[in-house]
Amino acid sequence: MNEKVKSGLAIEAQGLIKRYDEEVLAVDGIDLAIEANTIYSLLGPNGAGKTTTLSILTTLLEPSAGSAAVCGLDVVKQANEVRKHIGVTFQETVLDDALTGRQALDFHGQLYQQSKAMRQAKIEELLVLVELEDAADRKIRTYSGGMKRRLELIRGLMTEPDVLFLDEPTLGLDPQSRVRLGDYITDLKQNQGLTLMLTTHYMDEAQLLSDRVGIIDHGKIVAEGTPSELIEQMGADVIQVEGQGNSDQFVAVVKELPFTQEVSAVNGVIQIGVASGSRRLVEVVSVASDSGFRIEDISVAEPSLGDVFLKYTGRQFRD
Ligand SMILES: Nc1ncnc2c1ncn2[C@@H]1O[C@H](COP(=O)(O)OP(=O)(O)OP(=O)(O)O)[C@@H](O)[C@H]1O
Ligand SMILES: [Mg+2]
Repeated sequence: MNEKVKSGLAIEAQGLIKRYDEEVLAVDGIDLAIEANTIYSLLGPNGAGKTTTLSILTTLLEPSAGSAAVCGLDVVKQANEVRKHIGVTFQETVLDDALTGRQALDFHGQLYQQSKAMRQAKIEELLVLVELEDAADRKIRTYSGGMKRRLELIRGLMTEPDVLFLDEPTLGLDPQSRVRLGDYITDLKQNQGLTLMLTTHYMDEAQLLSDRVGIIDHGKIVAEGTPSELIEQMGADVIQVEGQGNSDQFVAVVKELPFTQEVSAVNGVIQIGVASGSRRLVEVVSVASDSGFRIEDISVAEPSLGDVFLKYTGRQFRD
């Protein structure tokens, strides 16, 4: 393992831009400074630019402007060097389905000049992780979609990279495999100094796994911080209100209430971050009625990363 990447910045980007054509600005000025030995999650709705960002950082795409470095190496000028330090698992599977699962893993290890003993040990360990032991010697073309994903995922772990990029790693995995993968990743970070950048739609997972989270929308990072920092800015509790009538007036008045910390109105759902939710419900209801807003649904909950996401992107998470 390269010692220098265990401290300092493992991933950096300055003013990263990717334009696919005149119409599509997929990445619109992203800056990143991700410490080595941390887990960073990129959260964003469909089309936000997550895969494009990962593609640039993993040298598969050149940025239209700006620069990025992984392990201190420029992703354009030193692309070959960068590749030696990283592992990648993409959203779309790129497996050769004429191979067996075991062969696919073994070829990947050979590509990285791993010894036979090393490859065999890794393959056994990783197959168990995603419960593919029994299918390992079957052709990939006989695998289900979920099995292919699991195989793809462990392929990225074959080579013990310094920095691992996982695009939606748990999509299509059953809850048990998700938990096991989470444990495995956390263990790699703690014991091998791994830096991990992932994208996920599973809020609970991002909240549990990540040291830092970047919320991305329309190619821009709109919020960044530790999960608890992002959640704390929502207030101690979130009162969620839906209804009919003059919501602008209602929101304006709610903003002025002394206990209100944060208000967002997205797609007819009004979220009010307050110091202490249940005792404030009565006042919110009364303000609504004075403002000509008829409440149809109201609830109080502790805020989650999902509330932060909704506030910044105006969209719910898929799960
Ligand atoms: N090869 C391409 N050519 C043209 N446009 C593209 C290409 N790849 C992606 N895009 C567009 O760039 C934008 C960002 O796409 P990207 O795949 O990076 O988003 P994403 O955040 O990964 O989305 P998802 O959650 O659906 O995977 C989208 O508008 C998408 O349609
Ligand atoms: Mg994507």
